[in-house]
Amino acid sequence: MKRGTLPVLILTAALILVACGPSGGAGSGQASQGEDPAVEVTVTPTEVSLPQVEGPVDGADVSNTQLVALGEILYEQYCASCHGAELEGEPNWKIRDESGFLPAPPHDETGHTWHHPDEQLFEITKIGTEAFVGRGYRSNMIGFGDQLDDTEIWAVLAYIKSQWSQRIQRAQPK
Ligand code: HEC
Repeated sequence: MKRGTLPVLILTAALILVACGPSGGAGSGQASQGEDPAVEVTVTPTEVSLPQVEGPVDGADVSNTQLVALGEILYEQYCASCHGAELEGEPNWKIRDESGFLPAPPHDETGHTWHHPDEQLFEITKIGTEAFVGRGYRSNMIGFGDQLDDTEIWAVLAYIKSQWSQRIQRAQPK
């Protein structure tokens, strides 16, 4: 089983090279003084350090900047593939496809999201549209309850809301 260690070593070396790459580049241009290059080597490339949210979270609180910052990262990771990087949704989002499924709607002001109170948006995100609507309704909007905890769901919603104008934020039903 000794042979097995070689590929692992090569992989580790490759990861270290990847991790070192950008810092080497930066170092050759504008010198990045005071930075310890050894720190970067320990970072796993796939790891994302999420912003911390301190204190209790009071729903999709747009004034909580930590919550909104966390939500922006989670939105990119979990929602943008369907709802769009700019919250623009999919084209022709009001028209069902041949299987009867609706495309992902925008989450910006041109969409429908702001017509729902926070609690409904939370439920839809947590359990998915099929469970939310019931009666055998079929939808590609899955529930994220096993991937995101409640604070993370509120964070995504706070981020979405933070992209709305004051007028739309006020117009959203409570
Ligand atoms: C796989 C694609 C996909 C992903 C990923 C996705 N959604 Fe959706 N979402 C949809 C679709 C499709 C709908 C429309 C469902 C329907 O009405 O049948 C929808 C609808 C919604 C609605 C209801 C909007 C309204 O106006 O009624 C909310 C809220 C929502 N999504 C939030 C989210 C959030 C938050 C995330 C990320 C955590 C997310 N979605 C990720 C596809 C997706």
